[in-house]
Amino acid sequence: MAILVTGGAGYIGSHTCVELLQAGEDIVLLDNFSNAKPQVVNRIKELGGRDFPLYAVDILHREGLEKIFAREDIEAVIHFAGLKAVGESVKIPLDYYQNNVSGTINLCQVMARAGCKKIVFSSSATVYGNSTDVPFREDSPLSTTNPYGSTKRMVEDILRDLCASDPEWSACLLRYFNPIGAHKSGLLGEDPNGIPNNLLPYIAKVAVGQLEQLNVFGNDYDTPDGTGVRDYLHVVDLAIGHLKALDYVRTHKGAEAINLGTGRGYSVLEVVKAFEKASGVTIPYRIAPRRPGDIATCYADPSKAKKLLGWEATRSLEEMCADAWNFTRRQQLGDSL
Ligand code: NAD
Ligand code: UFG
Repeated sequence: MAILVTGGAGYIGSHTCVELLQAGEDIVLLDNFSNAKPQVVNRIKELGGRDFPLYAVDILHREGLEKIFAREDIEAVIHFAGLKAVGESVKIPLDYYQNNVSGTINLCQVMARAGCKKIVFSSSATVYGNSTDVPFREDSPLSTTNPYGSTKRMVEDILRDLCASDPEWSACLLRYFNPIGAHKSGLLGEDPNGIPNNLLPYIAKVAVGQLEQLNVFGNDYDTPDGTGVRDYLHVVDLAIGHLKALDYVRTHKGAEAINLGTGRGYSVLEVVKAFEKASGVTIPYRIAPRRPGDIATCYADPSKAKKLLGWEATRSLEEMCADAWNFTRRQQLGDSL
């Protein structure tokens, strides 16, 4: 039997596919390539050492999904497919609700009909909203501040209701903190189109001279150096978390929300320093106004993941920066995806 990975050509999905293949799992990859390049699929095959079926299908397309479940023997689904840009979600909320919420309902209906009732879902620390009560625990109050966050919270609720309605379902709702870094090989990583919103891809573009300087959004937060603090985790650690979650849904029923983070926060300036050390390149920056919607500090209490999944992040900030740099440099050298 195989694991269907929706959004498997994306940043986190591609790293997870490699780990699944290397662990001996059979996979089926689904992606509509709205935010991924087809070349990624060959890189997954190269790194994973095996071939697998690929479906260029949209999760909103029910017939496409039904065809996959008719043709393939799917045991469980790891569901990454979704739109993820917070700012964009404010501008085009209906697209976000349709893609992330309707798409997931579609997927679950097709899964149910096929008798496949195990799902690992990409939720986000964004469901903790702008609470200041860190570290965030899974039972911390939830709130959202933008349509993207609302889609994650809604899908969590939908999956909880689904599990409550049918005891055969199991769902792991993984709340990621800030994934960064890249595959050691430099063949997979995060390569957003246009000007990046997130810190690490932005720093990487400054390092290779594609952007002039980093704007540090605020240095007057209540943090040790005044800049925002986040729980950055290596994308490969995060990918491995999905294999543990897969084991969990195989052996448990019901819905469970679980944080995936390191439990340690770093400030923007600490990340800049770590990147400079890893790359040997000085990152010019200026202090800019706070970015609307940002909170001072966000980091996980990761103890539930350790207890229930036996998972812990092991890779350091230095390793995250070194791997991101290696990937960026390879892209720059014309090895681009
Ligand atoms: P990504 O954009 O790189 O990957 C998502 C993939 O899904 C892309 O390959 C895209 O082409 C595909 N996709 C989007 N809509 C689709 C649809 N309707 N049908 C089929 N495929 C579709 O993003 P990522 O960073 O790998 O994130 C994966 C998941 O994790 C997303 O659901 C995201 O919201 C969630 N998440 C990401 C972060 C982060 O910081 N990267 C943090 C928390 C949660
Ligand atoms: N930052 C800068 N300059 C930049 C970009 C970011 O100073 O150019 C700062 C931000 O102000 C923040 C920190 O760097 O303090 C991290 O910002 P990111 O944009 O990289 O990440 P966020 O924590 O804001 O958001 C991420 C994801 C969201 C998700 C959230 C919680 O992008 O989708 O984590 O999981 F909702």
